[in-house]
Amino acid sequence: MAEDIKKQIEKLRQELRTHDYLYYVLNQPEIPDQQYDRLFAQLRQLEQAHPQYITPDSPTQRVSERPIEGFGTIRHAIPMLSIDNTYNADDLRKFDERIAKGLEGADYDYVVELKIDGLAISLRYEKGILVNAATRGDGETGDDVTANVRTIKAIPLKLLSDSQIQETIEVRGEVYMPTKSFIALNRQKTESGEPLFANPRNAAAGSLKLLDSRITAQRNLSFFAYALGEVSQPLADEHWQVLHRFKKFGLPVHPNIKKAADIDEVIEICSSWEKERHHLDFQIDGMVIKVNSLDQQEILGATGRSPRWCISFKFPAEQAETIIESIEVQVGKSGILTPVAKFKPVLLAGTTVKSASLHNFDQVDRLDVRQGDTVIIEKAGEIIPQVVEVKKELRPVGTKPFKVPEKCPNCEGPVKKNENGAYLRCLNPNCLGQLKEKLRYFAGRDQMDIENLGPALIEQLVDTGLVKNFADIYKLQKEDILELERMAEKSATNVINAIDQSKNRPLWRFIAALGIRNIGTQTAEILADEFASLPKLMDAPIDCLQKIEQIGPVVAQNIYDYFRNEANRKVIDGLLTAGVKPVHQKEKKSDALAGKTIVVTGMLENFSRPQIEQTIKQFGGKTASSVSKNTDFVLAGAEPGSKLDKATQLGVKVIDEKEFLKMIGKI
Ligand code: IVH
Repeated sequence: MAEDIKKQIEKLRQELRTHDYLYYVLNQPEIPDQQYDRLFAQLRQLEQAHPQYITPDSPTQRVSERPIEGFGTIRHAIPMLSIDNTYNADDLRKFDERIAKGLEGADYDYVVELKIDGLAISLRYEKGILVNAATRGDGETGDDVTANVRTIKAIPLKLLSDSQIQETIEVRGEVYMPTKSFIALNRQKTESGEPLFANPRNAAAGSLKLLDSRITAQRNLSFFAYALGEVSQPLADEHWQVLHRFKKFGLPVHPNIKKAADIDEVIEICSSWEKERHHLDFQIDGMVIKVNSLDQQEILGATGRSPRWCISFKFPAEQAETIIESIEVQVGKSGILTPVAKFKPVLLAGTTVKSASLHNFDQVDRLDVRQGDTVIIEKAGEIIPQVVEVKKELRPVGTKPFKVPEKCPNCEGPVKKNENGAYLRCLNPNCLGQLKEKLRYFAGRDQMDIENLGPALIEQLVDTGLVKNFADIYKLQKEDILELERMAEKSATNVINAIDQSKNRPLWRFIAALGIRNIGTQTAEILADEFASLPKLMDAPIDCLQKIEQIGPVVAQNIYDYFRNEANRKVIDGLLTAGVKPVHQKEKKSDALAGKTIVVTGMLENFSRPQIEQTIKQFGGKTASSVSKNTDFVLAGAEPGSKLDKATQLGVKVIDEKEFLKMIGKI
């Protein structure tokens, strides 16, 4: 009996691993997500009933329940080297000449791979089980990030096929954050007033360095394997074969690896990716070219920091040069102080830019950027402009290093560094700078949507002392507005009307407008649907919030804490007394999707999987897990998978997220 249960558990685990392999390595899932979830739930149930059989390599054991205290270090059995860079075809030819010379006339070929812009990681498998994971660090010793790496679903906790017989296999590869996830994460950070990540690479690195792996698990990191570290027995004779063995083990390898017979072919592949790279759903910053034969790699050896058999071809980044006019410090709605570089306007990747966030004061320190400096700016992931280099040789005489503010530049209140020391926060709860940002957010288009209450007016209302909190907005009279600069009769009437109209906004807009940390519009909608009334939400016990499927434990705690704070309750009371009456419309949306069967595939920018399912339901539609001729349309996000092929085969309509948002009247 006990043996039966043990067997059943192991069978379920093996089944799940096979489906992970089909999904992450072959990109050909064979079962719908729901069926996978059912198998997973079955395994979890069995393990809960028989905890003595739980093993760390079980697919249920990815996320550890407790945060760690700090990172230990791991010494790499074989150093993790870096790669020399080239930037043009001539340099690649020179590299090829060096190889030819080093191999003394022997034949050789190359493998060309994408240079994934994430962070290098070394995974150590013993008897096929993932035992630890380390960052590159200084190449000799890295940080032990095992707990966080275990949460990355693309990384198997146990290798497949014949790999178990190997005592040790060290696999090296890149952990990265898909572009869509990076954009979604930064959007969430913007909504909650937290500083943004400069690019997907920093976001991936930041996510791997979190002490709480439950948060890492939500960051949607992924992985591609590209090299071998220590092995007990050689895996193959060629790098090409090694990559194929990786796939057999269940380790994802990017499908666009190419063999090249000579350097001309290498150059051709590299230049084709210079344009193609924009179609990938993760960032690459170049290509990596490797001599294929492992024996030949050994003959060529390494020079200190980097191997001679390998080189990278870096794509030119879209950059521009400009001069820093000032470095300003802005205060966000949650009090975080962000240094911002203001520079002479320049054209960069199609738009004129004149400022760039410097993210935090460590970054300013690292760059040593000063007023008057000539700097190079670049668009990170072609999205956000940032200062990447300071031309120190062009620095005018007499410049001074930027001084980290000792008090809030807005209210002169005290400031404090956060736990990890990177960010400064203004501690004054009455800081007017924070208040202006809070009000701006409150009146914003995705919150209370008060059309004529823009930043300039908010500035005046706060500076004149007319508005000290959200509720004061609703106490304004036309005469108050008329007193302000540049305010004529008509515009004053418009403002008062717009404020008046916002009094009966839907409950979810009201919740979003409060600016609770991590609560954007999607989460606000979920809360409104769940509680249907403001008092119920305000008094919801913590376990009630934790039980909501689409909301994680950290966010649940944030909500709970927010409503336990007397000052916050007072603000809400003030709003209600001033005549604001948030209403929850049960069937608030429409039946735009009535009777429609929709299959969702790939990653969406605005919705998690449970959120999109709920939205479809709210608009009268139904979700199905596989495409058939009864499917009305397929909603395809990034990395859509085989459901999209099936839709094309059957002639089922495919729509993207933008079209979906239009259908439900969101844009
Ligand atoms: S091979 C000794 N292959 O680029 C060679 N590296 O600039 C080991 N990278 O530290 C690395 N994609 O983090 C290799 N296909 C690829 C890669 C790759 C990205 C990263 C890796 C490395 C850095 C060097």
